[in-house]
This record gives sequence, C-alpha cells and structure tokens, in this order.
Amino acid sequence: KGDPRLQAISEAIRVVPHFPKPGIMFQDITTLLLDHKAFKDTVDIFIDRYRDMSISVVAGVEARGFMFGPSIALAIGAKFVPLRKPKKLPGEVISEDYELEYGTDRLEMHVGAVQSGERAVVVDDLVATGGTLSAAIKLLERAGAEVVECACVIGVPEMIKGYCRLNGKPLYILVEPR
Ligand code: PRP
Repeated sequence: KGDPRLQAISEAIRVVPHFPKPGIMFQDITTLLLDHKAFKDTVDIFIDRYRDMSISVVAGVEARGFMFGPSIALAIGAKFVPLRKPKKLPGEVISEDYELEYGTDRLEMHVGAVQSGERAVVVDDLVATGGTLSAAIKLLERAGAEVVECACVIGVPEMIKGYCRLNGKPLYILVEPR
C-alpha cells in the first residue's frame, strides 16, 4: 500500500465483464503482460519482498502462475516448480483435489521436485475463494516444504484477514479487483 507503482499495475489489468460466464468480471492479466513497465514492476515488487527470505522454491499455479513465478525464481536464486492441472506432468506425482463452484479440480506436483525442509512461496495471478492456493499449500507441505507465503497479483483484502482456506498461511496481494 502506498507504493506508487500499484495504481499503474491495477490499471494495466483489463476487466472483461461477463467472461467466461454472465456476471463474472474477468480480471485479464494479459494486458499487464503487454505493459513492460507494469509487468516489470509487478515482478520486482515480489522479488524485493522474497529475495532475503531464504526461499529456495517458487511454486507457480497453472496457468497464470507460470507467467510470474519463473522471473521471481530466477531473480531470487530459487528453483521454479510448476503445479499443474491433471495428467500434464509425465513423472510420478502427488495430487490434491479442490472444490470449484461446480465440481472439483486437481493440482499435481512431481515427486522429488521439492526436498523436505525447503522454504517455498506459491505464486498465482489471482485468489478468489482460496481453494486453488490451499491445494497448492497442501502439495508442498506433503513434500515436507515450509510454505512461507502465497503471493498473488490480484485479490480481495478480506482474503488476507480470512485466510481460513489457506491453512493459516500468509497471503500477499498487490491490487484488488476493479
Ligand atoms: C483461476 C486463477 C487461480 C484460481 C483462483 O484459475 O488463475 O488459479 O482461478 O480461484 P480460487 O481462489 O477460487 O481457487 P483457473 O481455475 O481459471 O485456471 P487457469 O488459470 O488454468 O485458466
């Protein structure tokens, strides 16, 4: 808060009403990726936050966590671990199901990608219910990692206070949905 870069980041995110369904205000980060300064500022804010926290794992959630996570990982000297939708990873995986509005989905992580005791940050573009991040946290904890924080570009402030679904893990968000 108070960071002058945040307003421009927020304004670079296009809001598309009624996508993909009536009533949904879709937060489209592809326009943020087109704006070099806003994109770089976004990644730099996360890099500055995590660079001296002994983080060795940046885990990105498919698909849009893949657009921010690797740049952060490279800059802070951490590995990047993709958390993928079902049946995408070729090796042995562990998986976690999570609730959607209608039905369930699943995230998977390669066995051996993370060592016990590693310190991890989970990155995604947006947190809504927190179901996706909760599944991500569980995967990392099952591998013995310590999840230091979840980082999202967009989220509602209530999620920070009410992070019940994040198993008590801190959540760091840059901007609110418009
Ligand atoms: C979106 C978003 C987050 C998740 C947040 O992904 O990118 O990953 O939903 O929702 P939640 O907090 O309620 O769990 P989506 O499921 O649309 O998948 P995609 O990025 O692969 O399209």
